[in-house]
Amino acid sequence: MSIGIIGAGNIGSAFARALARNGIAATIANSRGPETLAELTAELAPHITAGTIEEAAKADIVLVAVPWSKLPSALAGLPDWAGRIVIDANNPIEAPLFKPAELNGRLSSEIVADLVPGARLVKAFNHLFANLVSADPHAEGGSRLLFYSGDDAQAKAEVADLIARLGFTGVDLGLLKVGAALTQFPGGPLPALNLVKFG
Ligand SMILES: NC(=O)c1ccc[n+]([C@@H]2O[C@H](COP(=O)([O-])OP(=O)(O)OC[C@H]3O[C@@H](n4cnc5c(N)ncnc54)[C@H](OP(=O)(O)O)[C@@H]3O)[C@@H](O)[C@H]2O)c1
Repeated sequence: MSIGIIGAGNIGSAFARALARNGIAATIANSRGPETLAELTAELAPHITAGTIEEAAKADIVLVAVPWSKLPSALAGLPDWAGRIVIDANNPIEAPLFKPAELNGRLSSEIVADLVPGARLVKAFNHLFANLVSADPHAEGGSRLLFYSGDDAQAKAEVADLIARLGFTGVDLGLLKVGAALTQFPGGPLPALNLVKFG
């Protein structure tokens, strides 16, 4: 099970840190090229290596974490996803203005799904601040909740397994239409809640 990460900013690098802490390998990519990620890969060696977007996109599971307006260019020109899993960690708002994007009544994940034809999309890792994605999920004596949703049961099961391997308590919110609406920021009630399961 190979893992790729497209976007090496706050969320992409936080996910990479969580993987590395658990000894899980991944290839991470940004817009400027692998050589610009030397500091991060030195910190997270030997588990995390830098690659091109094309290399990261070849993995079985690919987390995408890119500013909303940059998603079309980041995902343009990639081969058909052929059933591989995309984790949509994105939200339709970005710095510095934090003005919500115009979604024309759609969920942001539905728009992301259109950008990754042939992928099985699972929404996850978008509702916690980056520092809580990289922090030890057991730090408060319990296990931090991480919500996920999607329309493909097998893809969700594989992402749920990864979430568990990282030490989070995964909570399946059901179909994308339901779960993505609950975790989307802005709009959903769940973003930024730091919920921990005890016992
Ligand atoms: N920050 C959070 O706490 C947080 C929490 C939940 C969800 N999110 C969501 O996660 C996504 C990323 O946020 P972030 O805070 O991690 O952003 P960020 O720190 O600004 O990092 C963005 C990353 O995307 C890369 N990128 C930009 N344009 C690209 C392109 N055309 N092709 C490939 N890579 C490109 C950048 O690469 P370069 O640096 O090389 O340009 C950078 O590595 C957003 O959708 C955001 O809503 C963020």
